[in-house]
Amino acid sequence: MELRETLISQIKGKNLKIVFPEATDERILGAALRLHHEDILQPILLGKPDEVQAEAKSHGYDLTDISIIDPNSYDKYDEMVAAFVERRKGKATEEQARKQLRDVNYFGTMLVYLDLADGLVSGAIHSTGDTVRPALQIIKTRPGVSRTSGAFIMLRGRGQEKYVFADCAINPNPDAQVLAEIAVESARTAKMFGIEPKVAMLSFSSKGSASAPEVEKVAEATRIAKELAPEFDIDGELQFDAAFVKSVAQQKAPDSTVAGEATVFIFPELQSGNIGYKIAQRFGNFEAVGPVLQGLNKPVSDLSRGCIEEDVYKTAIITANQAIMNN
Ligand SMILES: CC(C)(COP(=O)(O)OP(=O)(O)OC[C@H]1O[C@@H](n2cnc3c(N)ncnc32)[C@H](O)[C@@H]1OP(=O)(O)O)[C@@H](O)C(=O)NCCC(=O)NCCS
Repeated sequence: MELRETLISQIKGKNLKIVFPEATDERILGAALRLHHEDILQPILLGKPDEVQAEAKSHGYDLTDISIIDPNSYDKYDEMVAAFVERRKGKATEEQARKQLRDVNYFGTMLVYLDLADGLVSGAIHSTGDTVRPALQIIKTRPGVSRTSGAFIMLRGRGQEKYVFADCAINPNPDAQVLAEIAVESARTAKMFGIEPKVAMLSFSSKGSASAPEVEKVAEATRIAKELAPEFDIDGELQFDAAFVKSVAQQKAPDSTVAGEATVFIFPELQSGNIGYKIAQRFGNFEAVGPVLQGLNKPVSDLSRGCIEEDVYKTAIITANQAIMNN
């Protein structure tokens, strides 16, 4: 089965609720409607109902049976404000909370936090920071994960070639501990996408061929990651060719069980990760699906502002899959 069908079959008919804070955007409306009609999930749209309905009508969409919530007239607003103040532990007063929760991303994230929804998809008109920050502050990372990170699933040839690249979206300069956590979370993400994780910790050195603080960080991260998750096959530090090409692996890391067979590629910091996935996408014709935000207690996904309706549709499916994986 193609990856897409597998991901759909895992959530279809389960009535998972995904919040879309940007409901006056045509791409969001179109995707939400498809997901609802195909019985893949239940969308919750945020916004003023008359504005959302007017936008829908202008595209010929019928929103019957789709829930629309207006943060400005939400009947349980006081309870939500109290829960927010409690969660922020002294970092927000009641007055600040009342104001902040009028923001659709904060409001939507609270719905997820309060278990009134299973996940959130936003970012078609908001920046990464505005989309992700509420999740970092409210939903927070799972025990044992100090930082969330962003992975891309790289697909080529109708999904025959499938790899995970991370972190390509969030942490500009992870230390060895964070890098190790990113490796473990990425291995879990790989499993969710049916990829057998063999995790390569990338560097410009293979197994001590060069020495520098940057290389030592990756070697240290490899040691920590192996300790954190002995169940996964994780190795490093490895250059990309040693990680990916069998003949190079035999020369540079003959004893490694990952070298030459890696499926999960962990970049040493955000610049190389972000550049790396774009090179594979543009030179290598890989489809880049993501970023899949890893390590949060509940799933929140950040769209690119250049996204199309199909991206919103796919991202919501991935988000709902993360929701069932977290449980
Ligand atoms: C993710 C990002 C938006 C967070 O930025 P920020 O709001 O400046 O973060 P702050 O340092 O002010 O922290 C805000 C809260 O989030 C938490 N936080 C920040 N980064 C986090 C991370 N990676 N994981 C988990 N929590 C994080 C902080 O601990 C803080 O929590 P608190 O308020 O409860 O103390 C920022 O790291 C960023 O812009 N990264 C790069 C994104 C980007 O441009 N990517 C490229 C293309 S996709």
